Amino acid sequence: MMENVRPCVYCSRRVPGPVLAELEQLFELELHDSERPPPREELLRAAAGRDGLLTMLTDRVDGELLDAAGPQLRAVGNFAVGYDNVDVAAATARGVVVSNTPDVLTRATAELALALLLSLRRRVTEGDRLIRRREPWLMAPTFMLGHGLEGATLGVVGMGRIGAETARLAGSLGMDVISAGRSGGLPLPELLARADAVSLHCPLTPETRHLIDAAALRLMKPTAVLVNTSRGPVVDEAALAAALREGVIAGAALDVYEAEPEVREELLALENVVLTPHLGSATHEARVGMGMLCVEGLRAVLLDRRAPANALNPEALR
Ligand code: DGY
Repeated sequence: MMENVRPCVYCSRRVPGPVLAELEQLFELELHDSERPPPREELLRAAAGRDGLLTMLTDRVDGELLDAAGPQLRAVGNFAVGYDNVDVAAATARGVVVSNTPDVLTRATAELALALLLSLRRRVTEGDRLIRRREPWLMAPTFMLGHGLEGATLGVVGMGRIGAETARLAGSLGMDVISAGRSGGLPLPELLARADAVSLHCPLTPETRHLIDAAALRLMKPTAVLVNTSRGPVVDEAALAAALREGVIAGAALDVYEAEPEVREELLALENVVLTPHLGSATHEARVGMGMLCVEGLRAVLLDRRAPANALNPEALR
């Protein structure tokens, strides 16, 4: 008689309760029950012998990890829509189907981009810091003035799902939206010159690494602000810190960092900067949705022997 053996899955981080329950029901689960990543050596060891891996964007999914897992590995569910941490070609070459988590975090990430933009233009976090420092203050006609959103021009770089949703939300608040990206829109230099706020939504690729460098920043208006909820290395952080210090642009809000989770010291000292710890998709709804999509990706391959709708390389199915 055939034994009914459940596929073995390693999950490299603590996940929301409903996602954990689903994983435990479907698979023999080994969980790294922490908000911190396992050290690389531990990840390599823990992956060995698994049929599926549930990984985070801070785990490098490359040939080394796939080989450490072994030839029985058939699925990787990557808990993110961005997959610059995954060597998809290496996975395909080894017959490993990789899935990501689109759509479910679109709204959450667009909302955060808007929240950061509002924080900057209306000086929300700056005001919060002022009060916490116990500085004397009094409402006055000229005190801590910012700028509203209505009538201002938002330049969206990368009109994918999240960029388009950010554009839609900004439009509903009365902003004029212009865009640049692979699939059309304005040339980037023109967008940078015209926008009052630039919001980055492009994936990290060799072409977009340091897309916003010193030269790009110099094209922006001195009154303009930059918002980055995409990937840290899209912005040259050293150039950005210098531009902010020298008044080349008026402010920046960053949710992602070049050497995440490290945050460049110079940025911490600047008042015209808003910093959040990679919160783009950090709503209960989005994170459960992302987890469920990972489970679905693993279930499709490991239990149903089909490629999931969100497979990045469906051709790898074996
Ligand atoms: C993603 O899904 O790529 C996000 O960066 C996670 O918040």
